[in-house]
Amino acid sequence: MKLLKHFLLATSLLKHVNISVANTASVPVDDDRKDPNLQEISFDLGFGEENFEVFMDPDIQAFSQGKHDKIVKPHMKGHAVKFFNMSPYSVKLFWISDSNEPMDMGVCKPFHSVGTASFPGHNFIFAPLDYMQSKVVYQHFPIDKTGTNALYYYDPIHVPGNEERTKKNLARLTLSEYEKYNKMVRNRKFAEHYKKVTGREYLTMYPRPKPRHFMWPADYINQTHWVTSRETFFKNIPEDNLLGTIREKPLERKLKEDDPVAFSDYREPGDHLNMTIRVVSVRPRVYEIDSFLSEQEVDHIVAYAQSANLKLSTVGQGGDSKKAKVRTSYNTWVGRETNQIFDTVYRRAADLLQIDESLFRDRDATEFPDWPNKRSIGEQLQLVHYNEKQEYTAHHDFGYADVDNKLQPARFATLLLYLNDVEEGGETSFPRWHNGETGKELLTKPKKGKAALFYSFLPDGNLDDYSQHAAKPVLKGEKYLINLWVRDPIKDF
Ligand SMILES: *[C@@H]1O[C@H](CO)[C@@H](O)[C@H](O)[C@H]1NC(C)=O
Ligand SMILES: *[C@@H]1O[C@H](CO)[C@@H](O)[C@H](O)[C@H]1NC(C)=O
Repeated sequence: MKLLKHFLLATSLLKHVNISVANTASVPVDDDRKDPNLQEISFDLGFGEENFEVFMDPDIQAFSQGKHDKIVKPHMKGHAVKFFNMSPYSVKLFWISDSNEPMDMGVCKPFHSVGTASFPGHNFIFAPLDYMQSKVVYQHFPIDKTGTNALYYYDPIHVPGNEERTKKNLARLTLSEYEKYNKMVRNRKFAEHYKKVTGREYLTMYPRPKPRHFMWPADYINQTHWVTSRETFFKNIPEDNLLGTIREKPLERKLKEDDPVAFSDYREPGDHLNMTIRVVSVRPRVYEIDSFLSEQEVDHIVAYAQSANLKLSTVGQGGDSKKAKVRTSYNTWVGRETNQIFDTVYRRAADLLQIDESLFRDRDATEFPDWPNKRSIGEQLQLVHYNEKQEYTAHHDFGYADVDNKLQPARFATLLLYLNDVEEGGETSFPRWHNGETGKELLTKPKKGKAALFYSFLPDGNLDDYSQHAAKPVLKGEKYLINLWVRDPIKDF
């Protein structure tokens, strides 16, 4: 019966998959486009009655359209971990390797936290800043073998079962320290409640508002949405002397309804481009857009990448059992204002994501006056080149915002633009996707002009641990790719 009900729900959703909305992006998200799996809960954590909308994971019966009733556990066991320093002094985080060697993972300030990616059975410690000499350990954090705990706390203030000493410790804090400590206690209690309700760890800092942007529904695998953009495909690229750096002021860049798009003579005929967005994973939400850039646009971008000075990109990593660099590609950053082709990429991406294009550039005071600042929420395009054997092992695109930052900014969405067909390998892998058939990774194959989209956030403002992904090694040939990162709600660097 339950199965039938979910199946009916999924099929009734089918009727609503076609959402046509060009240039009508609204912020914040309209009520009628709110995620149906958001559920309001009430609780009292000792700070009075509070309400919060939590995101409930979609049911496998619904998202497999009645085919499966159980999720197959992903083979990949790694996950996000976050360590909280609930003390009034700075500490250092070390990852202790299997051969017992400490790897410095950085300083964690008083009443702050640090996050990384790890594996069950790994070991971390919080220690004084002079640990290499003193060898004093404040707390040892063995990462839980079951892979279900991501949050680890160092709290020397609270002495379990000893109210008197706890009170004494609290009395020693300054008022500002006391407030910060309480904020951490509240976050910890909320995270415990959140986990009871949703089964998930809470990776942001409570109370974080929901993302301000729309998120495409992902009700079942192979669900499709379509969306139009006035930014039609370039069929010819204007000569270099016509293309140039964009210097207009914010309001001059706004396209009114009957303004033609830039270089319309060079584009495909027709007044709009119709893009199909196909759901390839529900949890995490991953989508493929088969045709996002034209051949000519891609060729222009690749030529630009080849003329730019691509630098080796390396990311050091601890807690990952490998000492090797986890990223071995070359990259460079390119701004939207570089020329009208790059500007078009942002405008089309804005339509695809249903986010107003003005949020992807510096804005005039009259544009989104309530937004926290006037800077772009889009990062520069990252052009990446992988040679044979180069890869980027599993990682998250989100970072952990400073606990003192009320806005809790982080990367919200990643749009990957594939610039060539790779002969073999080079797929984007989502090793922790949930489905009823396989524990193997989900692979998105590169193809010239194709795009893949995923979100680093869940609709309730928590970070999505399952968004962990990797660039598989290129086995034959080479790979060109663009990363376009969108932040919520602001860029904090
Ligand atoms: C989705 O569509 C593809 C291609 O049409 C097909 O091979 C695949 O089995 C479908 N997957 C699901 C879960 O329906
Ligand atoms: C876009 O394409 C879909 C099918 O892929 C079609 O159903 C829809 O009507 C098209 N929309 C427009 C505005 O052309």
